[in-house]
Amino acid sequence: RTTFRWIWRLTYLSVLGTLGYTAYVIYDDRNPGEQFVPDPSKKTLVILGTGWGSVALLKNLDTENYNVVVVSPRNYFLFTPLLPSCTTGLIEHRSIMEPVRAILRHKKGAANYYEAEATNVDTERKVITVVDNSEVRGATSTTEIPYDMLVVGVGAENATFGIPGVREHSCFLKEIGDAQRIRKKIMDCVETAALRGQSEEEMNRLMHMVVVGGGPTGVEFAGELQDFFEEDIKKLVPGISPRFKVTLIEALPNVLPSFSKQLIDYTENTLREEKIDIMTKTMVKKVTDNTVEAEISRPDGTKERVEIPYGLLVWATGNAVRPIVKDMMARIPAQKDSRRGLAVNEYLVVQGARDVWAIGDCAVAGYAPTAQVASQEGSFLARLFNNMAKTESLEGRIHDLSSKMNLKAGNAAEDAQEIELLEKQLRRIKDVKPFRYSHQGSLAYIGSEKAVADVSWWNGNLATGGSMTYLFWRSAYLSMCFSTRNRVLVILDWLKSKAFGRDISRE
Ligand code: FAD
Ligand code: NAI
Repeated sequence: RTTFRWIWRLTYLSVLGTLGYTAYVIYDDRNPGEQFVPDPSKKTLVILGTGWGSVALLKNLDTENYNVVVVSPRNYFLFTPLLPSCTTGLIEHRSIMEPVRAILRHKKGAANYYEAEATNVDTERKVITVVDNSEVRGATSTTEIPYDMLVVGVGAENATFGIPGVREHSCFLKEIGDAQRIRKKIMDCVETAALRGQSEEEMNRLMHMVVVGGGPTGVEFAGELQDFFEEDIKKLVPGISPRFKVTLIEALPNVLPSFSKQLIDYTENTLREEKIDIMTKTMVKKVTDNTVEAEISRPDGTKERVEIPYGLLVWATGNAVRPIVKDMMARIPAQKDSRRGLAVNEYLVVQGARDVWAIGDCAVAGYAPTAQVASQEGSFLARLFNNMAKTESLEGRIHDLSSKMNLKAGNAAEDAQEIELLEKQLRRIKDVKPFRYSHQGSLAYIGSEKAVADVSWWNGNLATGGSMTYLFWRSAYLSMCFSTRNRVLVILDWLKSKAFGRDISRE
């Protein structure tokens, strides 16, 4: 009985403790401390972008050491791995967004945000030009911001390879607006196909959902779309269901080329079981408002041109360099051979520029353009900048002590001892190792509650796929969400969709 009483008491105390801690976190979140003003004696660190790289930097940066200025046209961080789930309403878009102001308001030190796009970086004068391109503009919409240190984390834009019609007629899947557009268009195609009097041919076209690009974005979206159809559309709009078809087009011989052979085979078999049509070795050459023109490479070496009618077209063929990055590459002579982004050294310093660093998809450091890489690069820069600030403060103290020693001979021995200690600390801090990416593995959702994972395991690699991997995928991404608020909202969305189905209203 005594043991039972103790277990009960401990449980009671831990529940009370958890509730108390949660209440404190919520209170602290809702009542940020005083707003800090910029200190002219500190350096101004300008960070471009609010994506994976920039936010990891902000999260880990000791902002007390710098006047931080964040510039981005997007005033929130977006958890991209769950973006494909927003296209079908499985997850509501606000559940994976975190306002940048909420992040900055809890930092110690001056941290300012401007909702604007950087259009020019003058590395000689150390100023950037920014433009407010939002719908509401004041008398001033263009301004200059000086910097002492600049971090470029502007990501990449969608690659179209100049293929005619892509920009005008397809949907991309990179930003929240893209996911909302796709969600609306899926339901528009369904409702238009279901209209009384619609011809057979037109119904077939409208219900044909084409995805171009068999990388992780295309595969995950195709899987989510097929789930949406099987779990909701089919039940609510049964009349059109036999015509619903998803086609995934990929130029290479297989989908998910960056995964291991075993997982590629597993993915292709699973997608086929889900009735997703996979067209590999098929290169899209032209897009019109209702057809895709593609070239299929046959095993005998011949090529065949086909025309594929579609209702919805999602274009997911990877990344291209943003104009601001292109412009920097053109102006900095050391970047003349760069093609895919800003070439950086092992400390992520932009080659050929002073006090400029680049992280994430816009930087070329020899790694794949993923969230994992971007966030590790951002955290690395935070450590580097924290160290640089400590180094400067120690060097200042050593300088003060050294000059004092010459004036007050009495304390010289004490001061010399402190200097020795400080110099030891300085050597330790200055010894920052170059950036090394540590690959934790790749995960992708492939539909029908299955996922594939290529993860590092002990000293080797583990390739696995199926329903258990799907549970791992869900828990991994849940734990990676930016905040507790995001985590709670995502769990609620999953529960809501399971219990009541996805919301098919077209906004
Ligand atoms: P981004 O996160 O793209 O952020 C760029 C920021 O810069 C944005 O805030 C943007 O508004 C801002 N910006 C743009 N232009 C300017 C300008 N001129 N001035 C100032 N700011 C500007 N990777 C994984 O590792 N795992 C995954 O599961 C995964 N899933 C993904 C799913 C989808 C649908 C997509 C599209 C990508 C996914 N990725 C994933 C890739 C990952 O999202 C990117 O590699 C990552 O976002 C790159 O981070 P970044 O900080 O470089 O750029
Ligand atoms: P991607 O570059 O990985 O794949 C694009 C695919 O489109 C390529 O396989 C390419 O062969 C194909 N393609 C290009 N042009 C084509 C054409 N004209 N016709 C047909 N096919 C064509 O791009 P994706 O999937 O957008 O990913 C971008 C980055 O984000 C990658 O680094 C990826 O690893 C990462 N990412 C990771 C995810 C994950 O880990 N789960 C999810 C989504 C993205």
